[in-house]
Amino acid sequence: MKIGLLGCGTVGSGVLAICDHPQTEAVRQIEVKRILIRQGRSITDPRMTYEIQDIINDEEIDTIIEVMGGTTTAKTYILQALQAKKNVVTANKAVIAENFKQFMETAKNHHVQFRIEASVGGGIPWIENLLRVKRIDEISSISGIFNGTCNFILDTLHENEADFDEILQTAQQLGYAEADPSSDIDGIDTKYKCLISACIAYNCTLQLDQIDTFGIRHITQQDISYFKKRGWTCKLMAMSQNHDSFVSAYVQPVCFPSDALEANVPANFNLTSLRGHTIHDLKFYGQGAGKDSTAHAVIQDCLDIANHQASLNPIVLDNHKLINNSKDIFHFYIRTHLQASFIDEIKQISISHEKSESCYFFITSKITVSDIHAHIRQWQKEDPEIFFAQIVQ
Ligand code: HSE
Repeated sequence: MKIGLLGCGTVGSGVLAICDHPQTEAVRQIEVKRILIRQGRSITDPRMTYEIQDIINDEEIDTIIEVMGGTTTAKTYILQALQAKKNVVTANKAVIAENFKQFMETAKNHHVQFRIEASVGGGIPWIENLLRVKRIDEISSISGIFNGTCNFILDTLHENEADFDEILQTAQQLGYAEADPSSDIDGIDTKYKCLISACIAYNCTLQLDQIDTFGIRHITQQDISYFKKRGWTCKLMAMSQNHDSFVSAYVQPVCFPSDALEANVPANFNLTSLRGHTIHDLKFYGQGAGKDSTAHAVIQDCLDIANHQASLNPIVLDNHKLINNSKDIFHFYIRTHLQASFIDEIKQISISHEKSESCYFFITSKITVSDIHAHIRQWQKEDPEIFFAQIVQ
């Protein structure tokens, strides 16, 4: 199997490391023949080129690995590759989330595979197992910790008093964070992964901008100490349920009791969960971000193609479903500054509140996910650093 590798950053260099120094007979089947790099980067390997056509027009290359990131050029190259009857393996969740149905249809029309294992959960065999479960079960819900960078930040904040920006820098140095880490800490990366997982789980397309999303950018040590006093651990979660005529899907910080499985997921690890009607609850744990684990998932997809193993149960994106988060009801924690004019509004939906020198801390009565996100969007205009989290009791 001859590969054209698009991109040679963190994941691309991990793919090269595995393919150029194979440890197994299986990997020896795979040869990276050409590598596309950005204009302006130095050519340090004879296989490198700046020209996509050197790869698309190479008839020996049957599979493209796209790990360049971004959405515009990546979309063009993926479509060109599929139309040229090359299989495509990608770890690029943003481009998949925006063009999922088009990629699947183009692959089908050209009798090639479009494989995306590395796009969600890093090294965890999550997509493959969603598809396996679906051979037998209807999946009623999915949820999980899908972002290694946020988990690394939250875990470190809970462990010691380190500064948010310093921890984020370490996550970047370790190769966990996106090129623009806003995508991680604002929950956007988790939103892409939520959409991809939910579409596969429920055989449908969903609209990205209907997923209510709130990240961890504004979490402070004040929040963490409030949580610790109550025996809670905060994680960034994606959650989705199939309500048949519609789907709920949202991304938000969640406080778990400290002995919950989710609460004990360390460092850059992910924990992804599904519920099926005979398998019941099934959870997968592994490194969710980083060069080696993500490259491993990419190569697994290539090996499945090399072994002529079509997707175990091809991804079907039959119908479009609306997202509606007004049936999911929880208590929430809210922290805002003392002078906020909306304090009385929060009091009306709260069962308790506390005051420190600079902040109010509220626990709300049970309210819907759509309502809390709508409130927070309003309140953010006056207090951009307001923070909230769902409470699991
Ligand atoms: N930035 C992503 C994360 C990389 O931290 O999870 C893996 O998708």
